[in-house]
Amino acid sequence: MVIKTAEFVKSSQKWQDCPEPTMAEYAFIGRSNVGKSSLINAMMNHKDLAKTSQTPGKTQLINHFLVNENWFLTDLPGYGYAKVSKSLRKDFEKLITNYILNRQNLVNLFVLIDSRLTPQKIDLEFMQWCGESNVPFSIVFTKVDKLKPGAADRNVEAYKKELLNTWEDLPEIYVTSAEKKTGTDNILKFISETNQF
Ligand code: GTP
Ligand code: MG
Repeated sequence: MVIKTAEFVKSSQKWQDCPEPTMAEYAFIGRSNVGKSSLINAMMNHKDLAKTSQTPGKTQLINHFLVNENWFLTDLPGYGYAKVSKSLRKDFEKLITNYILNRQNLVNLFVLIDSRLTPQKIDLEFMQWCGESNVPFSIVFTKVDKLKPGAADRNVEAYKKELLNTWEDLPEIYVTSAEKKTGTDNILKFISETNQF
């Protein structure tokens, strides 16, 4: 897919405030600092469409972008950020889960996982919740440029093994680097193939 236009639409504090659900929507989710906003920028060939930061917890609202005047791309706040209070963390979780469960035009959720880490409980639990809630999702491993060749594959295999303990089928898996712009074309291909709105 060629990106002709990518524009910021709005930031929303809750799903009820999101733009009218008139087009297909694809959302990026994952732990704080995993690289959601960076990957969105890499996919859109844009340096700072979505705000990024070295400090976790940068994205705190639901951010909508309109791509090619034809579909929405959504940057969500990260989950599991330890440095905020428990009640604020609960608020974020509620915001995210309500958005996911209520957003009618959401076609697919991309769950981002840091390719440097062995399977993490919080990510496995989140994917388990997606499966149980019938939320369509794909897995996107990030920051693969930070690893030696082969090391990411081992972590990907470890995740697959964990998921196959519970599920018969595996979701689509993408291995990416926002830094080197690897894997982004495959995500865009998936989006163009599933955007039937
Ligand atoms: P929150 O909005 O806080 O939840 O974070 P986020 O998931 O949007 O992460 P963000 O895109 O802001 O990136 C976090 C940090 O990781 C930044 O310092 C990025 O430069 C860095 N980063 C993101 N993707 C990559 C990547 O592919 N390679 C490398 N080397 N660094 C990356
Ligand atoms: Mg962000």
